[in-house]
Amino acid sequence: MRTDVGKRPLDQRLLGPGKNLARHRTSLRLTAALAVLLLTTAGAAALSAARPASAATSLKSLAEAKGRYFGTAMTQNMLSNSTVTTLAGQQFDMVTPGNEMKWDTTEPSNGSFNFGPGDQIVSFAQSHGMRVRGHNLVWHSQLPSWVSSLPLNQVQSVMENHITTEVTHYKGQAYAWDVVNEPFNDNGSLRQDAFYNAMGSGYIADAIRTAHAADPNAKLYLNDYNIEGENAKSNAMYSLVQSLLAQGVPINGVGLESHFILGQVPSSLLANMQRFAARGVDVAVTELDDRIQLPATSANLAQQATDFSTVVSDCLQVSRCVGVSQWGVGDADSWIPSAFSGYGAATMFDQNYQPKPAYNAVVTALGGSNGGGGGGGSCSATYQETQQWNGVFNGQVTITAGSSAISSWTSTVTLGSGQVISATWNGNPTWPQANVMVMKPASSNSNLAAGQSTSFGFTVKTSNGNYSAPAVTCSTP
Ligand code: G3I
Repeated sequence: MRTDVGKRPLDQRLLGPGKNLARHRTSLRLTAALAVLLLTTAGAAALSAARPASAATSLKSLAEAKGRYFGTAMTQNMLSNSTVTTLAGQQFDMVTPGNEMKWDTTEPSNGSFNFGPGDQIVSFAQSHGMRVRGHNLVWHSQLPSWVSSLPLNQVQSVMENHITTEVTHYKGQAYAWDVVNEPFNDNGSLRQDAFYNAMGSGYIADAIRTAHAADPNAKLYLNDYNIEGENAKSNAMYSLVQSLLAQGVPINGVGLESHFILGQVPSSLLANMQRFAARGVDVAVTELDDRIQLPATSANLAQQATDFSTVVSDCLQVSRCVGVSQWGVGDADSWIPSAFSGYGAATMFDQNYQPKPAYNAVVTALGGSNGGGGGGGSCSATYQETQQWNGVFNGQVTITAGSSAISSWTSTVTLGSGQVISATWNGNPTWPQANVMVMKPASSNSNLAAGQSTSFGFTVKTSNGNYSAPAVTCSTP
């Protein structure tokens, strides 16, 4: 990301906005001199040293190490927020368009298609090495009124044309499609929507077959909510899958949306995933969030960490659970506050996109390390570039306490080749190796309550145009 830093003096730009220039000029010169000295004595070989594996912590890298993906939903408006796009690119390897591939956007009037918004999401995903879950082709909601007003004998051809046109447009670009979304009522009966009313239950098999003909390589899903545990609705989904497979319908997976309420992850989630997998289809957690009555307390956030961890652990126990997607990148993107008055804080990142205890818990569930350590407290570190200009960039590391308070923390920042730190703020640095800075807190940001965050920053000079993100870790004493 390049940021226009205007006409401020270079030293001020190095420090970042709001920093005391006079006070930091001395520290900048000293730290730069020390870094140069260390570089000289340690030699160039240290610069190319491999980064420690633990420093690469991200949801996607940990999930990939387990043969899974970790996804997020993104909408068009999120693409213009660089905080969101940076975090999404760092943490997630699968994107579900939140609204952009739904019928009201893609075919607002009969035969007139608009793939512009969906294309933007796909292009973002591709440029960040992420795959795409197509969402969705046939759904009773966000369905333009012209479809529900059609004479019954025209619905099938319109549905098939919609599916064929959309799936063909994205052929080879969508890893999976939610072909039919939310087909069931909570009691397990099929919704009597425009498609059911025109074609009966056979619309589902027809939709899946039509999608398969347009892109035989896409994984084809049925997706629904309240089917995460074993209940009347998931029983109905199970029977439907059985019947589709018996008819030779090319269904590949079932999406468990997983819009949970704090503390209410069903105890039968694992068994439910296992029975679908045993039947011969993949399962995926497609829209995970966990809503909290606001304001969220630290006890709530700790429970949320447990809930997220349970979901991820259960998925990892089922070889056909292919991945987990959260619905939104952070709390600021979540649909929850507008749909459930008084509720929110439903994702792993807060309103400012800082990681919450749920993030740390998921990292741990995926086999990663948050640092762990004594005193019962743990911490995590995330990196964000805040400014970049010719040969220089500013980085910010956010340190977040886990589900209990911590009294101190230690963060390592491992630089890439050609990178040298020339200034730091909000911490006490040492350099055990030429390319590794160990940052300990200043007195003002040592103590963190459970889930609380602080940050420190630094300026990096790059001699070879390497602006790649330094790797960061956090541990507690
Ligand atoms: O685009 C209009 C805009 O023109 C208008 O000014 C504005 C006023 O309210 O509404 C905008 O449309 C909104 C749309 O999102 C796009 O932002 C709709 O009101 C709003 O209802 C719609 O909500 C979406 C919801 O699906 C609709 O059911 C959410 O963003 C989206 O996150 C949500 O996603 C669904 C999944 O597709 C299926 N599973 C449940 C999940 C959560 O509801």
